[in-house]
Amino acid sequence: MLEAIAEIGRDPRTGGYRRFAWSDADMALREWFAGEAAERGMELDEDGNGNQFAWWGTGDDALLIGSHLDSVPDGGAYDGPLGVVSSFAAVDELRAQGHTPKRPIVVGNFADEEGARFGIACAGSQLVTGALSADKALSLKDRDGQTLAEVMTARGRDPRAVGRTDLLDSIGTFVELHVEQGRSLIHSDAAVGVATAIWPHGRWRLDFCGEANHAGATLMEDRHDPMQAYAATVIAARRLATDAGARATFGRLEVEPGGTNAIPSRVRAWLDARAADEGQLDKLVDALMHQARSAADPDGTTVGLTTESVSPAVEFDVPLRDRLASLLDAPVLPTGAGHDAGVLSPHVPTAMLFVRNPTGVSHSPAEFAEDADCQAGVEALTTVVRALS
Ligand code: GLV
Ligand code: MN
Ligand code: MN
Repeated sequence: MLEAIAEIGRDPRTGGYRRFAWSDADMALREWFAGEAAERGMELDEDGNGNQFAWWGTGDDALLIGSHLDSVPDGGAYDGPLGVVSSFAAVDELRAQGHTPKRPIVVGNFADEEGARFGIACAGSQLVTGALSADKALSLKDRDGQTLAEVMTARGRDPRAVGRTDLLDSIGTFVELHVEQGRSLIHSDAAVGVATAIWPHGRWRLDFCGEANHAGATLMEDRHDPMQAYAATVIAARRLATDAGARATFGRLEVEPGGTNAIPSRVRAWLDARAADEGQLDKLVDALMHQARSAADPDGTTVGLTTESVSPAVEFDVPLRDRLASLLDAPVLPTGAGHDAGVLSPHVPTAMLFVRNPTGVSHSPAEFAEDADCQAGVEALTTVVRALS
């Protein structure tokens, strides 16, 4: 199955994936998902938010498995798709074993997990739970200025259907399998692990504002160059996050007007920050903003902060996690990466399985997992689904 989708949304230059929400690539992946459901005689349901669900059986208290098919810019082949294909493979395996589930089994593909196009991660699952309101989601804009409402309409979806759904009434458990985004399983010498927790994390936009002027004619001491405070903030971010045992990343930047021979008027930068608990995360962002303002003031520039999204700490259901760890004889591990499982976790008993990643690299074309480990992931998921259904 991974081979069948390998060319969809792949950038031939980098080998990475650009599978953004509602793009041509995303539409092709949705069609692929629908085809896999149909091939297995699973009933396909797409909710108003674009989340796809393939049902084996009907009724309440369903066991949801699955993940997402979209990607970050230049993402790898596994982050998301591994969970979806492993879920279909587990269904095949259970059927081959003659398993008759006592509850419905649902394979899910959550929409826009990475937030690469509209800025908010896990938008599809957050809309389901109400953590993200329909009004806020529909007015989010992509980099071309198109709103989610416009984009969904162009894809034949009704924006009025966006918002909270009754999925949580029919789902009793969620298990998301995902490639590990770190190297813990290498150290544990295990192909599969069980998640304990997700660090709180968020995205903030920093607007460094100054005055555009000529790069040659403006004396160095006469400048109000916002790039200086931005640069100081990047350096401070590494120091502050390192000292706090946290993470801080600037991975996206817009410079206006963007001329080589012009001092910028504005540097807009996006901060991704994560920490072991919410207090530490707040402290990190406060300390970083203090540094940013201290750097901006002497230059006569300013810096503004906009919180785009914050995801609270997640502790996965302890009895479920312990049950899966003992069933699979697998190690348990926390993660700094966000997932739809984290969004559903406060509402329904939720667990995650991680498949070993030999380099730990993720959100990169170099992301990899050995076939044998992916197969071990399918076997683990099959074992879990059989035990839970
Ligand atoms: C999702 O992959 C995230 O943690 O940003
Ligand atoms: Mn990801
Ligand atoms: Mn993912």
